[in-house]
Amino acid sequence: MPHTLTAVLAAALFGGSLMAITPPPALPHRDFGQLPDGRHAELYTLDNHRGLRAEITNYGGIVVSLQTPDRRGKSGDIVLGYDNLAGYVGDTKTYFGALIGRYANRIAHGRFSLDGHTYHLAANNGANSLHGGNVGFNRRLWTARDVSTAAAPALELSYHSADGEEGYPGALSVRVVYTVTPDNTLRIEYAATTDKDTVLNLTNHSYFNLNGEGAGDILSTVLTLHARRFTPVDATLIPDGKLAPVAGTPLDFTQPTPIGARIAQPDAQLKFAGGYDFNYVLDAGQPRQPALAAEAYDPRSGRVMRVLTTQPGIQLYSGNFLDGSVIGKHGHHYGLHAGFALETQHFPDSPNQPRFPSTELKPGQRFHSVTEYRFSTRN
Ligand code: GLA
Repeated sequence: MPHTLTAVLAAALFGGSLMAITPPPALPHRDFGQLPDGRHAELYTLDNHRGLRAEITNYGGIVVSLQTPDRRGKSGDIVLGYDNLAGYVGDTKTYFGALIGRYANRIAHGRFSLDGHTYHLAANNGANSLHGGNVGFNRRLWTARDVSTAAAPALELSYHSADGEEGYPGALSVRVVYTVTPDNTLRIEYAATTDKDTVLNLTNHSYFNLNGEGAGDILSTVLTLHARRFTPVDATLIPDGKLAPVAGTPLDFTQPTPIGARIAQPDAQLKFAGGYDFNYVLDAGQPRQPALAAEAYDPRSGRVMRVLTTQPGIQLYSGNFLDGSVIGKHGHHYGLHAGFALETQHFPDSPNQPRFPSTELKPGQRFHSVTEYRFSTRN
């Protein structure tokens, strides 16, 4: 066969350019330990060899580590988590790094109605249902497939959630693809289909500390949120259905502001949450292409993280429930505000809030969303 034809065939097979005549190297992976039911979880390494390196397990789709360079080029792990699988299995509170579903965030009183039927969910957060119930997607073993291309390492995780699992209707097929791109971006693409009308809200629950996990708190991290409104909550963090302006409140991050600058102000919302734990209504709405939602800059390390998404909301959580009792990687005690989360999502309790963007998924439709975490440094 002439060389050119071989090259064209190889390019078609491997999805790359004409240069891509060799297949991409297989994703390095290793055993991450055994689950109580005897199955094993794997740990995959996605390294772009340009500074960004992620370790992801198919247990809960958890981002176990994320190495990025600081302004001096020194690499550090910037996500909170555990050294081993047992740490994640034993933790029912933090959701460190995990994929969250079927419904990220809260559903009031663990109840919603759809097509005239009322569905009941586990009340695992006071009276409310949080992050998919007792055994959410964060505690499931996903099926992993190496979908790397010559350009970027990529891991596909899929999970089939049975009709009625955790009280939700419909058999749901979920597919998440993690990609580490050449420009130091962790891209997360979510897709799902159902065989019955259902509700769905998927996110990733990584806790970031841009100064390095275990290296102090995140109060000096300078945050910008491209959101002029938020969804105000009651004392149990359930929205009242309104979209309120952030202007004139300590929740306003439309201008770059350290997370800790106003966290202790006497504000009813901050008091309910014990810090920041709010859903922001993104100005971009639900764009077809990921739009800039948030930017975080850590003056100590110089690390910058930009978050882009197609989702309408983002939950800013300032690690308010961390109290030093959680012992994470390398024996680090994660104290109050040891990390922050920026969970791209639909609004909390949408199934009970007719004025919020719909979280319904019907047979024949395909849920699709993309979130990108882009890393760089600044002096
Ligand atoms: C989300 C919630 C918080 C908290 C954390 C996990 O961010 O909004 O209230 O439950 O998850 O601890």
